Amino acid sequence: MAFSSKPHCILMFMISFYTLTLFASTLEVSSVAVAEAPGPGSGGDGFIPLAKKHVVIRNVVQNRQTLNVHCKSSDDDLGLIHIPFGNSWGFRFRVNIWESTRFRCHFTWYFGGSHYFDIFSTWRDDNDFGKTPVCKECIWEVGRNNGDEAMCRITQDGSVRYCFTWDDDVLYTLFASVLDVSNAVQEKSTSVSAGVDGYWPLAPKHVIINNTLYSKQTLNVHCKSTEDDLGLIHIPWNQTWGFRFHVNLFKTTKFRCHFTWGIGESHEFNIFTVARDDDNFGDYGVCKLCIWEVGRDNKEKAMCRVNRDDLKHPVCFPWDDIL
Ligand SMILES: *[C@@H]1O[C@H](CO)[C@@H](O)[C@H](O)[C@H]1NC(C)=O
Ligand SMILES: *[C@@H]1O[C@H](CO)[C@@H](O)[C@H](O)[C@H]1NC(C)=O
Repeated sequence: MAFSSKPHCILMFMISFYTLTLFASTLEVSSVAVAEAPGPGSGGDGFIPLAKKHVVIRNVVQNRQTLNVHCKSSDDDLGLIHIPFGNSWGFRFRVNIWESTRFRCHFTWYFGGSHYFDIFSTWRDDNDFGKTPVCKECIWEVGRNNGDEAMCRITQDGSVRYCFTWDDDVLYTLFASVLDVSNAVQEKSTSVSAGVDGYWPLAPKHVIINNTLYSKQTLNVHCKSTEDDLGLIHIPWNQTWGFRFHVNLFKTTKFRCHFTWGIGESHEFNIFTVARDDDNFGDYGVCKLCIWEVGRDNKEKAMCRVNRDDLKHPVCFPWDDIL
């Protein structure tokens, strides 16, 4: 049945607007500096619906690289943020009325891997009966190590720390094209199995990007699939960076990268597609270790896939910029 009158529509619109505003976990994303007045008492909060929260993420990664952070809740996607070493970034929101608000973040950094963590969950951070006290200012130190202190929630003065390991999702790891971003230099040759791979679902793949730019500049790389955003990575000339994943069950896994360098050079390329890189009947054969030399020239040899088994015959392609 259609609405019979305009005022009716407007009323419906207003009701849904207010409903959304009141009941969703609304955000107020802010680029937060460090110094903020400590909030009054952090107890008691867990009982109040729509409690105000402030999450702060501090980059303390061991190797002092820039931390790439991508946080989402069921309602909000905060985008990909780059936090220089020693700096912080944060966002504010209210816990929804059902106390089901949850923010999950994906963390990546050069040489650091790819990790997930629930940066806010009501049972841990807003529960008076939980193991950790309620936080209003939820300050997290990220990446102090890769084990028990991967994620530490600290009090404002830093005197008490509650630490956790990553909660990289095992099921997700199995079934999606999940990543383990890693610097990939020392790897053994995989020549033996290089022909079989294309038949297997969930085939493990390792993509390596070698900066062979003709201009010898630093290459900036930003790769994404539908599920994963690997963040912006800077690769010095004649250095490599890489990541691992599994081809998904439906064989639809695709990674596309954006390459930039110098002044205004900007190009795109599908660094992994099943049709080109994981199809036994394809023109280019299957690669398990897919090594790409980037930028030998800006034309026909912009992207060259070199196979460990057969170094003499790289296959080269121009950029696939969408014009
Ligand atoms: C990157 O490519 C250059 C040029 O082909 C080569 O000399 C170098 O060994 C490669 N680096 C790695 C780590 O494979
Ligand atoms: C490039 O890197 C390779 C090792 O990955 C090294 O053997 C070679 O000497 C480097 N080339 C230059 C010009 O630095």
